[in-house]
Amino acid sequence: MTTTTDTSALAERFQETFGTAPDGVWQAPGRVNLIGEHTDYNEGFVLPFAIDKTAKVALRLRNDATVRLLSTFGGHGLVETSLEGLEPGSGQGWSRYPLGVAWVLKERGITVPGFDLLLDSDVPLGAGLSSSHAIECAVITALNELTDAGLNAEELVLETQRAENIFVGAPTGIMDQSASLRGAKGHAVFLDCRDQHVDLVPFDAESAGLVLLVIDTKVSHSHADGGYASRRASCELGAEVLGVTALRDVGVEDLEEASGVLDETTLRRVRHVVTENDRVLQTVELLGSHGPASIGLLLDASHASMRDDFEISCPELDLAVEAAKTHGAIGARMTGGGFGGSAIALTPVRQEQQVRDAVVRAFAQAGFTEPDIFTVTPAAGALRLA
Ligand code: GLA
Repeated sequence: MTTTTDTSALAERFQETFGTAPDGVWQAPGRVNLIGEHTDYNEGFVLPFAIDKTAKVALRLRNDATVRLLSTFGGHGLVETSLEGLEPGSGQGWSRYPLGVAWVLKERGITVPGFDLLLDSDVPLGAGLSSSHAIECAVITALNELTDAGLNAEELVLETQRAENIFVGAPTGIMDQSASLRGAKGHAVFLDCRDQHVDLVPFDAESAGLVLLVIDTKVSHSHADGGYASRRASCELGAEVLGVTALRDVGVEDLEEASGVLDETTLRRVRHVVTENDRVLQTVELLGSHGPASIGLLLDASHASMRDDFEISCPELDLAVEAAKTHGAIGARMTGGGFGGSAIALTPVRQEQQVRDAVVRAFAQAGFTEPDIFTVTPAAGALRLA
């Protein structure tokens, strides 16, 4: 899904398709996570940022309950349905995201009329960069405004989470939509997932002579599949056995004692979450004191923990990380939910080409599909464009 339609072209295309001008055009970004993986649903800490790739929606409210959905990238053609009788599991492909958002708002008691929507997005699908949340966040920002629902950022985050969890059926946390809705240019979003407190942390790789490369392995994944849910269940089991509300309440110093009461697999899952929370806090501190060049080892340790303890990596992600590190990256890790998707590699600008070439070469030698490699910088969160 790579398009470059600008705002006025999207509005014009909307007019051609639906016969009237849209009420407006909104956009919301995808995200990368710098560090803090599978910590969000454990009420822990995460450090993602909104990226300079976005979903854009031109949208117009209707006078009836009909919803008409079209995207610039094909996929399903024009979808026409009704908000009446909408229920979890309805819809196909990307249409589930706007429908899920409309459904949660209606469930909350907000009067949501039907709407026409044209979607454009350059967030790669299934690459672990939250393409689905980008769509949901753009739509909820538009509907919140057009229906005068007046929900604040924290409420919008929780509603999009409900759309994912209940309507789409993916038991995910609040990290992705928090980055997409609350991100800011030049900053990472340090989020405490227990109370949704956000501190914006400056992340200026360029001034440090670095780039953040994304390596999309093209191994696609879905968090509605079993792997994500089973990790979540292990964490809940660990918290229950340890007698805490959430793994957030377990410290690194408690792990030795935990090893006496948890089974071997649960212990490793718990160890990942507990040490990862600690790594997020260390990363935030180091970014403040020494800047982006100082966080490489924490990124590496995070990847090792996901590969060995949480077991959510895959050969392509491991290879991307290893090849990047061997050829000049100062730190690299898989990003997002795992089982495919993308890795990030923090790389000195002067080594960027070398790292890119090495990763492509390593994938070819292993017989893997050629990865897509690009840089990202922290961008603004969801906003109205027109
Ligand atoms: C996916 C989910 C997030 C988070 C990450 C793992 O991106 O949507 O809520 O759990 O995986 O950190």
